[in-house]
Amino acid sequence: MKPDTPIIIAVDGPAASGKGTLARRLAERFDYAYLDTGLLYRAVAYDVLRRHEDPANAAAGLRAAKALNLAMLGAPETLAALRTGEVGTAASLVAAQPDTRRAILQIQRDIANAPPEGKAGAVLDGRDIGTVVCPEARHKIFVTARVEIRAARRWQELHAQDPKLTLQAVLADLQARDHRDSARTTAPMRAAQDAHLLDTSDLSIEEAFAAALALVLH
Ligand code: DC
Repeated sequence: MKPDTPIIIAVDGPAASGKGTLARRLAERFDYAYLDTGLLYRAVAYDVLRRHEDPANAAAGLRAAKALNLAMLGAPETLAALRTGEVGTAASLVAAQPDTRRAILQIQRDIANAPPEGKAGAVLDGRDIGTVVCPEARHKIFVTARVEIRAARRWQELHAQDPKLTLQAVLADLQARDHRDSARTTAPMRAAQDAHLLDTSDLSIEEAFAAALALVLH
């Protein structure tokens, strides 16, 4: 039977920490809805870039956030376009704008509080899910990994499409993004006080998933 209040699992952490994989697998394991909230910021950034506007411009980000079309996000060709390094950097810039964040906040809360297909819960991954979007989440996990390890993972993902991309460039981009995401004044990336920390630096995907599952089931 579906409980009245959906169970929310918040999975936060920096880029390439493994949070997306863990969140997706937790959602599968419990048959909950899954929302990659970074994709929302990426879609806004993509729209801003497509219009040749500046991702650091607050009005451009807000316009794109208000026009966000959730139905388009699932298409494989859209996902590939949103997952590039360029869009990730622009997403971090649009995500620093308070009005843009406010416009996206309700979309996230609506999905968490009324998961699609009548699912009994939702797993959201991002930067501020446990602190701002769903501070009431039943379970909170903050996933980390050393930045060199994250850079190597991200480089593995991206260099097939972009053979000129160097590991050093990916590392520099991640460091800049970590700084921007955690130093911004509105909803900075940080672990909620009641979050469990999970460092995936020296864990395989299976080990990290087992650890995340244990945190949720404990
Ligand atoms: O998780 P990701 O790399 O796809 O996220 C892209 C950017 O979006 C990230 O650098 C910061 C921003 N973001 C955010 O500010 N808050 C979230 N909940 C999710 C992402």
